[in-house]
Amino acid sequence: MKRNDSMKRIAICPGSFDPVTRGHEDIIRRAARLFDQVIVVVGANPDKSPIFSADERVELISLVCRDLPNVSVDQFQGLLVDYAKEKNAVAIVKGLRAVSDFDYEFQIALTNHKLAPNVETVFFTSNSHNMFLSSSVVRQVAQFGGDITQFVPECVLDRVTARMRENYSV
Ligand code: PNS
Repeated sequence: MKRNDSMKRIAICPGSFDPVTRGHEDIIRRAARLFDQVIVVVGANPDKSPIFSADERVELISLVCRDLPNVSVDQFQGLLVDYAKEKNAVAIVKGLRAVSDFDYEFQIALTNHKLAPNVETVFFTSNSHNMFLSSSVVRQVAQFGGDITQFVPECVLDRVTARMRENYSV
């Protein structure tokens, strides 16, 4: 059934994406198959100081998603649920890698649900190749001069490697 705009099921995929990884890409592509429209949204995590600006992260994710017509990329300040409501999103999609993610993600999901009961958090289990993968792992490997080819999407590899070299002088 084709849905008109008011019936479209919109999901948001939030994160820091510093940098976007192959694990993020997998979750975004799977969300794009399940929802009519997906908005990947770069948020500010107050506990982290990013190596890419929010504009740069939006640009990199846009490159990764350029073949997905129902995916757009944006950034937000403030509370995620306020953004979700503004966009009429029905779901927040997050990837879950291991049990270690669960406590944190569960707490955030419950908080978000208290604040916005009409927005559901949907967890996608990570692809088994990406169970270990996170942006902080990528940053750490790059920091010590390691090869991050298998961890970040090919189309952004050069940009990410160059920034890591500048930042960590490797
Ligand atoms: O990739 P991350 O670092 O887990 O992404 C976290 C992000 C940016 C999605 C999260 O920190 C966030 O939603 N920040 C906005 C503030 C907010 O709404 N927090 C949730 C309620 S405590």
